[in-house]
Amino acid sequence: MTKPKVLVTRRWPRAVERRMEEVFDLDLNTSDAPLTEADLCAALGRYDAILPTVTDRLPAAVFDAAPRTRILANYGVGFSHIDTEAAKARGIAVTNTPDVLSECTADIAMTLLLMVARRAGEGERELREGRWTGWRPTHMIGTKVSGATLGIIGFGRIGQAMAQRAHLGFGMKILVQNRSPVPAEMLARYSAVQVPTVEELLPQCDFVSLHCPGGKANRHLINSRRLDLMRPGAFLINTARGEVVDEHALAQALWFGTIGGAGLDVFEREPRIPEELLGADNVVLLPHLGSATRETREAMGFRVLENLTDFFGGRAPRDRVA
Ligand code: DGY
Repeated sequence: MTKPKVLVTRRWPRAVERRMEEVFDLDLNTSDAPLTEADLCAALGRYDAILPTVTDRLPAAVFDAAPRTRILANYGVGFSHIDTEAAKARGIAVTNTPDVLSECTADIAMTLLLMVARRAGEGERELREGRWTGWRPTHMIGTKVSGATLGIIGFGRIGQAMAQRAHLGFGMKILVQNRSPVPAEMLARYSAVQVPTVEELLPQCDFVSLHCPGGKANRHLINSRRLDLMRPGAFLINTARGEVVDEHALAQALWFGTIGGAGLDVFEREPRIPEELLGADNVVLLPHLGSATRETREAMGFRVLENLTDFFGGRAPRDRVA
C-alpha cells in the first residue's frame, strides 16, 4: 500500500519527525522558514495531509484550487489561523492537539502573572544594566499575588489548569467567565464562581487571565471599553491568542496607568511587537512560549501522529475540529 504523502510545515522535535518518517511519505521543511500562502496553496495540490501550525495562514482563498489534501492535522490547540469553514466546504478534515499542552501553557500564564505582579522583568533589567544600588525598603514594590482575586475568561482545559495553580498553589479567589455554564462540581474544585459576562467579571478582579479561543468571534474581546472596567492596578495576562486583545488600547492603558500591568505571550502580528508595548516597563513580554517544553512539544507531535494514523486507517481522529 502506498504511504500517504505528508508535509510538515516547520521543524518538529526530532523524535517525532523520525517516527513520522517511518509511517508516512514525509517531506520536512528543513529550512524551518515559515511558508507563504502561495507555498501552502501549492502544497494543498501535492500532499494528502499537511501538518500546519500557528505560523501558517490558511484563509479561504488558499483552498480555491481543488486540493489533493484530505486532512490538515494542526500542531497546536489553537486553529484560528485556519479557515475551518472553507476547509470543511472542500471536504478537508481539521484536527488539533488539545490536553497535552494545558499544564505547560497554564505554567506560562502563572509565570507572567508572577513576573508582572512582582516586577521581575523590570528587576532583571535593572540588575543586568548595572543600575541596582542595593536593598532598600522602598525598592521596586510590587503587588501581592497570594489571596488576590483572579478572573479567568474561558474555562476550558487551560483555564482549569490555571485555576488549579492559582487557587491550590496561591490561595487565589477564582471568578470564571465562560460561554457555557460550567458544571458545579468543576467550579467547586477551585471554589470558583461563574459570572455571566465579561463586564461583570472585570471590575471584581486583581488579575484577569485569558484562556478563550482566538478567531473572529473573540477579536478584540479586550478593548478600551473593557480595559476601563478593570480595577486600577489590576493586571491582564494573555496566553490565548494575540487578536483577543486590542494591543493599541492595551498600550494606552499601560502608559496612562489605568491598569497596573500586563503579561503577554501572544501578539496580533507575531513576531512583530508594537513599539508602544516594547517601550512600556509595566508589561512582561514572552515570545509565544506557552507550550515550549520538550515534553509538551513531543506530546503535541505524537498527538498529530495519532490523529493522522486514525484518519488514514479509516477511524475518526479523536481531535477533529472540522
Ligand atoms: C497552540 O497550541 O495553540 C499554541 O499557541 C501554538 O500554536
